[in-house]
Amino acid sequence: MVTFAAMHLSTPAECLDNWFSNDVAFHELYPAVISQLARRHWTPLRVARKAAAFLRTGKEDRVLDIGSGVGKFCLAAAHAEPTVQFTGVELRPWLVEHARIAQQKLGLKNVRFLAANIKDVCFKQFDHFYFYNSFYENLAESEKIDQEMPCSLELFERYSYYLYKQLANRPAGTRLVTYHSLETEIPADFHLVQTEINGYLKYWIKV
Ligand SMILES: C[S@@+](CC[C@H](N)C(=O)[O-])C[C@H]1O[C@@H](n2cnc3c(N)ncnc32)[C@H](O)[C@@H]1O
Repeated sequence: MVTFAAMHLSTPAECLDNWFSNDVAFHELYPAVISQLARRHWTPLRVARKAAAFLRTGKEDRVLDIGSGVGKFCLAAAHAEPTVQFTGVELRPWLVEHARIAQQKLGLKNVRFLAANIKDVCFKQFDHFYFYNSFYENLAESEKIDQEMPCSLELFERYSYYLYKQLANRPAGTRLVTYHSLETEIPADFHLVQTEINGYLKYWIKV
């Protein structure tokens, strides 16, 4: 006879934690077409956790992920840092749809996703920022998410400059994490305070 005590019943918290146990488990939240894009386009879980810890200062932090894709950074960060409010803004509506479905499955409340171009987002609503080289797709010829994004140096420069100007207007103390960034979008008053993951992950604070 199997007793009640002998049966392993997962608590809701344990079920939630299972999704974040490794990248393969997390990608089960999405259809195969999305997980196939992960290696090139979505932040690894351990990177998201490290970035989220740096972006939490303990002052009701509001963090914007600039180009949030299917929400992997925001969801992993929101799970790791429940006191921080994460917002993802993403140009492609079909990716935002996947992000919202994944969020519903996880039941995370401290995250939301906006379908918009970054150039239409007011940065004043946010304290700190995460950027995984979102505009590089405008330069890349291969491994694109879909064929919708035009290959255009002019667009790359326009978006990068918009981000540069927004960051330049943020107050001292603003934190930024970049992953695989070309750094053309980072104003000189953002000081590099730490690097990890072979120099691909960088932590910045504005002085
Ligand atoms: C490298 S992916 C990173 C996704 C997510 N931040 C993560 O780490 O899991 C960059 C995303 O930025 C989006 N993107 C590119 N240009 C954008 C723009 N101008 N406004 C909003 N999103 C943009 C792309 O569609 C893509 O989903």
